[in-house]
Amino acid sequence: MVVQVALTGATGFLGLRLLRRLLATHRSVTVLAHAGSGDALHRITRFFELTGAPGEFTAELTDRLRVVETELERPRLGLPERAFQELADGLGAIWHSAGSINLEGELPELRRTNVEGTRHVLELAAAGRRQPLVHHVSTAFVAGGRREGVAYEDELDDAYGFENAYERSKYEAEKLIHAWSREHARPVMVLRPSILVTDLPPHPELPPHPLQVIERILRDARRTAGTGGPDRDGRPRVRVVGHPHGRLNLVQVEHAAEVMVRLADRTPSGGVDTYHVVHDRDVPVPTVVTLLEGLVPVSVELVATEPDEPSALESLLAFYPGLTAYLVHRRRFDDTRVRTLLGPSAASDRVDLGYLRSGLAARDRGPAAPPATHATGAPSARSS
Ligand SMILES: NC(=O)c1ccc[n+]([C@@H]2O[C@H](COP(=O)([O-])OP(=O)(O)OC[C@H]3O[C@@H](n4cnc5c(N)ncnc54)[C@H](OP(=O)(O)O)[C@@H]3O)[C@@H](O)[C@H]2O)c1
Repeated sequence: MVVQVALTGATGFLGLRLLRRLLATHRSVTVLAHAGSGDALHRITRFFELTGAPGEFTAELTDRLRVVETELERPRLGLPERAFQELADGLGAIWHSAGSINLEGELPELRRTNVEGTRHVLELAAAGRRQPLVHHVSTAFVAGGRREGVAYEDELDDAYGFENAYERSKYEAEKLIHAWSREHARPVMVLRPSILVTDLPPHPELPPHPLQVIERILRDARRTAGTGGPDRDGRPRVRVVGHPHGRLNLVQVEHAAEVMVRLADRTPSGGVDTYHVVHDRDVPVPTVVTLLEGLVPVSVELVATEPDEPSALESLLAFYPGLTAYLVHRRRFDDTRVRTLLGPSAASDRVDLGYLRSGLAARDRGPAAPPATHATGAPSARSS
């Protein structure tokens, strides 16, 4: 039997890039697809076509990908017992990238996907006779409501609370990983990326990224609320709670996937090895504000407290506290472990206004041709 690497979430914004990396070093990959969510092979093929992979590469995907429809929320991933055991026994490694990243979601729903889903992936790992290695994609935002100071890779506590249910669900999933690792004496790699971005322009057939979601919310709110509120330069003014020295960590998704796959090559310690996959420079909150003002006709003013008499537009945006909370953050994510292992190559190019604009520029038609700065093409050419 050929020992396989399996990947959940392969149709996602990050999962597609992880798949690109894994296919650079593995002849085939088992895709644990989201049952009932649309043809995974087709969506994956479209991603590679739209990002400039050579025709020979995309033509081979049918042979190189084994797609297994799974239900993350159900025991044994919703598979019959025999199919589950056969799947588990064939695996040498499992990458778990599937999850709900809905920052406005309710905790029970997020727990089902992010916590129970992780539990069932761990069941698969426990069942496999080759003891497959587990690579779990978490988030740097398990640091929760800590808004200042430094978040370290070996920290995992809920002392600061959480900005939203998404953060809590990812924290709980990590707690589960630690308990499982101890109970089974098995290593697990936990990867904590910060906010993932791209300069690849949006396309209806590609998964959106978090800044696109924020842009859409702002645009919808602007449309629904009309032009209420005082104007400046003919644009409605929006007062949003935020810190003028606030900063956000945004990292290129392609780079993050590359770093993750390189980290997985390292010999595990035997317990849980956690890594912050982050950019070495934060993006100032005012830069993000400038970005959004360039896309949506509003003028954003950062204020210290909620306005007493909010305009219709401000009231609408107040419905998204899980998102706007980040505008006051000034913390830094320490990534000493990653930099110690990978050296200067752990750093990536600058994420500046031009880069972010490119990844949000609306396109009316045609394929999402990669911009000049966006490295794509055959996975072998990008192998690390
Ligand atoms: N995006 C970020 O900025 C970011 C930052 C830090 C951490 N992360 C973490 O990175 C991971 C991947 O995120 P992403 O950006 O790739 O998200 P995404 O684009 O929303 O993709 C989510 C993936 O998970 C799958 N999925 C969702 N619900 C599922 C379910 N109930 N059962 C099975 N599969 C399900 C989706 O399949 P379908 O498409 O078929 O539904 C998709 O492949 C997540 O664990 C997230 O917490 C993301």
